[in-house]
Amino acid sequence: MFHFKTIIEPFRIKSVEMVKFTHREEREAALREAGWNVFRLHAEDVLVDLLTDSGTGAMSAAQWGALMQGDESYAGSRSYYRFRDVVRDLTGFRHIIPTHQGRAAERILFHTILKPGFVVPNNNHFDTTRANVEVEEAEARDLVVPEGHLPSFIHPFKGNMDLAALERTLAAEGDRIPLVMVTVTNNTGGGQPVSLENLRGVRALCDRYHKPFFLDACRFAENAYFVKMREPGQAGRTPKAIAQEMFSLADGCTMSAKKDGLANIGGFLAMNDDVWAERCRNLLILTEGFPTYGGLAGYDLEAVARGLEEVVEEPYLRYRIRSIEYLAERLVAAGVPIIQPAGGHAVYLDARALLPHVPPLQYPGIALTAALYLEAGIRGVEIGTVMFGRHPDGREEPAPMDLVRLAIPRRVYTQSHIDYVAEAVIAVAGSRDGLRGYRIVSAPAVLRHFTATFEPL
Ligand code: F0G
Repeated sequence: MFHFKTIIEPFRIKSVEMVKFTHREEREAALREAGWNVFRLHAEDVLVDLLTDSGTGAMSAAQWGALMQGDESYAGSRSYYRFRDVVRDLTGFRHIIPTHQGRAAERILFHTILKPGFVVPNNNHFDTTRANVEVEEAEARDLVVPEGHLPSFIHPFKGNMDLAALERTLAAEGDRIPLVMVTVTNNTGGGQPVSLENLRGVRALCDRYHKPFFLDACRFAENAYFVKMREPGQAGRTPKAIAQEMFSLADGCTMSAKKDGLANIGGFLAMNDDVWAERCRNLLILTEGFPTYGGLAGYDLEAVARGLEEVVEEPYLRYRIRSIEYLAERLVAAGVPIIQPAGGHAVYLDARALLPHVPPLQYPGIALTAALYLEAGIRGVEIGTVMFGRHPDGREEPAPMDLVRLAIPRRVYTQSHIDYVAEAVIAVAGSRDGLRGYRIVSAPAVLRHFTATFEPL
């Protein structure tokens, strides 16, 4: 019996999209024009786009086929019931409320339950989640385990919640906490998983303090596969069964179907509480749409329903997790500092460690992101002081880490694209001494990373 090491993409390619090759001078002009912020580039000018794994995946032939089954009725669409049944089978939640993407679910939930001065504990809030808490004048408090802040420290579940810190917070803040959230996988902290044991611990604390527990479930399938691989006693279970157990420990979830829904748009809010659900649905009608479509087309609901079935298939998850680990292995072998172990959807370069001569307030993550685009046409994203360094009161201080995330879209790139990325990152890391910091020229008050403009120092 042979054991082959080559990663086989578990699909054949039926339809292709050409990419554009550019010269360095063209990229320099494009980046200057974009105010040195890769969010402002024309995507056409990017060769390998690792800005995000959100909404950028390739749908399967079955999903494209499902689009034609979409029932576009305003109310009571057949596609809604198909979507509801798939989501309910997976999550077990009573109320399934479709939304156009994850942040719509977040906004509706938080606007419904938060008051000024409230506190939301989470392992780590991602950018829009944090912003949707803060816009309600509540506090988004990150309580990831200490290992989660040590990029090169290897631990199987660096996304875990610090249960002792959560207990202290629950005891101290009492009625100011309307719910506890856990993000699976922990995107801000490196796409790191949360163990079932840890989720059970959160559940027990929530029971003791009578608090609802919600998952930010964007990457639930990747989390379930890590549990299967790494958690004692889980190897024999299917990813779906593990995911079902994860959801069964919670009282509700927010979900962006643009990630582990394998769709280009879509999301949902789900929960068991009848009173909260009714209030959320009323707000949904005001801003998103009727509760059986929630801002989506009937065909989107079909694509998400099918995507949620495909995403828990084991050959897909094996390829998904392995192909990201492969990129990480090549970078580690070349001495490039990254968050270890590799995340489920991305490799996170440790820009602060790579560029010690660029202080955090000169944005090492922006320096590295710009260099990757200039030298190789690769677009990553800063997850660091630009994204998280500015507080609601206007203060600026270094974020806990300065990272550059290379997020891998689902089912889009092949191993040779990944080989090219590895080669390019290693070359740019080799030229680190020549990279310099940036200053911000203009930025909005909230979520500044999306639209800020920069200038090289
Ligand atoms: N929660 C997490 C953990 C996320 O990663 C995201 C989106 C959201 C919520 C919001 O979902 O985009 O559908 O509104 N993350 C994307 C990213 C954008 O690039 O990581 P959304």
